[in-house]
Amino acid sequence: MKLTVQDLNSHYGPAHILFDIGFEVGEGEVVALLGRNGAGKSTTFRSIVGLVAQRTGRIVFEGKDVSAKPTHEIVREGLGYVPEERRIFTDLTVEENLEVGKQPKRANAPDWTREKLFALFPNLGEMKNRPGGRMSGGEQQMLTIARTLMGNPSLVLLDEPSEGLSPKIVEQMVDAILTMKKEGVSIVVSEQNLHFARLISDRAYIIERGRICFGGTMAELDARPDIRDAHLSL
Ligand SMILES: Nc1ncnc2c1ncn2[C@@H]1O[C@H](COP(=O)(O)OP(=O)(O)O)[C@@H](O)[C@H]1O
Ligand SMILES: [Mg+2]
Repeated sequence: MKLTVQDLNSHYGPAHILFDIGFEVGEGEVVALLGRNGAGKSTTFRSIVGLVAQRTGRIVFEGKDVSAKPTHEIVREGLGYVPEERRIFTDLTVEENLEVGKQPKRANAPDWTREKLFALFPNLGEMKNRPGGRMSGGEQQMLTIARTLMGNPSLVLLDEPSEGLSPKIVEQMVDAILTMKKEGVSIVVSEQNLHFARLISDRAYIIERGRICFGGTMAELDARPDIRDAHLSL
């Protein structure tokens, strides 16, 4: 397995948010973590990369237990994280933002260059010298993903990449994620949008109120409209 999450429990202060979360991501898979607003998707991602202080459970990445490691070490192992809120440097240009994300090559992950990233996100290639602050929300979202890829991760966590994007940009995002997969990046994508998830994912888990209540292939999920209707807003 590329990534295994076991018995993950997380708290914010006195509030227990995640309850015994467990899931797996195979080598080269795209796995969706589906759930309504407030279900615990972002907290799951933040817990995996060590950004939630009160967390128990086991995170195994490429056979290594990274549960006790600090965030910067987990990222250096090749686990990329793209948070929900876009974190680009507004005063830096597109190219400069990409340089910030640069990390050495990794044996078991694709090696991204600026040229490859501009092929992946053609929009960005047309605005190499534009400051991040003068880009649209969708373009900033792409830049955040591209910057994470500059670190040559072997797996990325994408927190709601389709959120707030126009239909045309969503189409480009689908193409980009499928290309990332083809290049060999394993991907976990959190989504409220089942339509978007279906276009990119091999398998899906549904999270509701901090608990995983379904895991299966997209076909298995389609065969269970009751589960879909109970746990996802469409
Ligand atoms: N920093 C925080 N402090 C306290 N509660 C939080 C914090 N962040 C999220 N929560 C709560 O944790 C729950 C899960 O939130 P979140 O993981 O952001 O869900 P999702 O990403 O699925 O929308 C929600 O009830 C939310 O209000
Ligand atoms: Mg969220």
